[in-house]
Amino acid sequence: MNVVLCDDYQQMSTQAATVFAECLAANPAAVLGLATGSTPIGVYENLIARFKAGEISFAEATSFNLDEYIGLHRDHPQSYYYFMHQQLFNHVDLPSQRIFVPSGVESDYGAYCQWYEDRITEAGGIDLQILGIGSDGHIAFNEPGTALGSRTHITELDHQTIDDNARFFQSKAEVPRRAITMGVATIMDARKIILLATGEHKATAIRDAIAGPVSSECTASALQQHPDVTFYLDSAAACLLPAE
Ligand code: GLP
Repeated sequence: MNVVLCDDYQQMSTQAATVFAECLAANPAAVLGLATGSTPIGVYENLIARFKAGEISFAEATSFNLDEYIGLHRDHPQSYYYFMHQQLFNHVDLPSQRIFVPSGVESDYGAYCQWYEDRITEAGGIDLQILGIGSDGHIAFNEPGTALGSRTHITELDHQTIDDNARFFQSKAEVPRRAITMGVATIMDARKIILLATGEHKATAIRDAIAGPVSSECTASALQQHPDVTFYLDSAAACLLPAE
C-alpha cells in the first residue's frame, strides 16, 4: 500500500491523471474503473485537457462505473450516468458502446447485478480503478458492515452518506435511499487501484483505511490486502495517520 502526500487538490488531480495516461499509453484498450463524487472531478478535467491536447485517446478503451442511485433515470441531473457524461464522457472519444454505468431503474436486480459482473469479466477485468472514499470509510457504496467478499449488489445507504450527499439535491428527502454498487471483491479484482481523498472530514476514514484493522466496518480497509494500491492524499486527509 503506497501513500503519496500531495500539496493540493490540483497536484493530486494531475498525478492521478498521469496514472491514467500511463495506463492508456501502455494499453490503449485498457479497461478503466471510474468513480463519481466531487473528488475525481479534477482528474477528469485533467484527462479532458490531455485528450484535447492530443496526448491521450480513449478510442479503444472501456469503462465501468462503480455505482448508481436506485430510482434515478440516466437523464436525472444527480444520476451518476448524467454526472459522468457531464464531467468526462461528453468531452472525450470513449465510444458509448463501451461505457458501462450501472442502471438505477432495473426491474430484476438479481439478474442485472450478475450481468454487470459478467460484462467486467468479458472485458478482461479492470486494469485501473479510481476511488474516492466516504466519510464513513466506504468505497463505491459499500457501506460499513458490507461483506468484504461482496460482488455487485443493491445496498441501503447509511444516514451519514445520505447527509453527505444531500448537498447535491434540493433537499435531504430527495436523496435516494438505495444504490447499486460494485462489491468490495469486485473492486479488489482491479489490477491497479488509486484512491484520492482531500480534507479533514476524510481524515478518520483514511486513518481507519490505512492504519486500522481490515474490517467490513471500514470497507476501504480491504485495500490493505491489494497488491497495487496507492492513496493520494492532501495533508488534511492524512493528518490522523500515525507517524512512520
Ligand atoms: C459517494 C460515491 C463514492 C464516493 C463518495 C465520496 O458516496 N458513491 O464513490 O467516493 O461519494 O464523495 P466525495 O468525493 O464527493 O467526497
